[in-house]
Amino acid sequence: MPRLHVNIDHVATVRQARRGPRPDPVEWAILAERAGAQGITCHLRKDRRHILDADVAQLRKVVRTLLNLESSLEPEMVAIALASGADEVCLVPENRAEITTEGGLDVVREKLRLAEVLPRLREKGILVSLFVDPERAQLEEAAQLEADFVELHTGSYANADVRVRGRELERLIEGALHAHALGLRVNAGHGLDLENVAAVAALPHLEELNIGHALVGRSLFVGVEAAVKEMLARIRVGAHGEGSR
Ligand code: PXP
Repeated sequence: MPRLHVNIDHVATVRQARRGPRPDPVEWAILAERAGAQGITCHLRKDRRHILDADVAQLRKVVRTLLNLESSLEPEMVAIALASGADEVCLVPENRAEITTEGGLDVVREKLRLAEVLPRLREKGILVSLFVDPERAQLEEAAQLEADFVELHTGSYANADVRVRGRELERLIEGALHAHALGLRVNAGHGLDLENVAAVAALPHLEELNIGHALVGRSLFVGVEAAVKEMLARIRVGAHGEGSR
């Protein structure tokens, strides 16, 4: 069964609406771990719209499972990632105007910058993941660069109309198989919720699912513990072959 990594960015989004100390995303992360989350993920964006530098430092002190930091390739953010003590760094594209991370990283276009950054992260013992669309050329370049993981972008699947959802799922399955054949480890995430997660949890070779927005939203109604537990239950259903498209 894939591990559930809980992305806490949007707890910080609510906090930043008032720029005060609460709700504290670190406290929320501790509750998510207690409920069974197997990793905590956050994205320190250049514009600091949600997670702040101090959150990353505090998370490093309290996270007992695995800390996954999402980072762009901007030199400032890479320097922070290198010093963060994160167990895993997921390199993502970042565009100031976007509401959330929109597409996968263009590994082919960014290969020179990646070839410079990846070894520096790996020298620190950090596992490196590249957030990519499930396209063969992207996966092949990720393997050339010797990334540890690719995180397959599930946004197109999650947002797809029911008529094309099956096709999007096929792309993810083919991507996972191809990545594994290239020696890459496979993660997935973006836009997943209770309704669509089971089919993704059934992807071949999948190790980690990164889920944030749906869990934070659901926790407003049922609390953090119940939100994490019901997501884990849906992942279990999918991983054991009961997922539906
Ligand atoms: N994976 C990556 C690389 C992301 O950038 C995000 C969004 O921050 C997620 C997963 C989680 O997406 P969502 O919040 O839609 O669950």
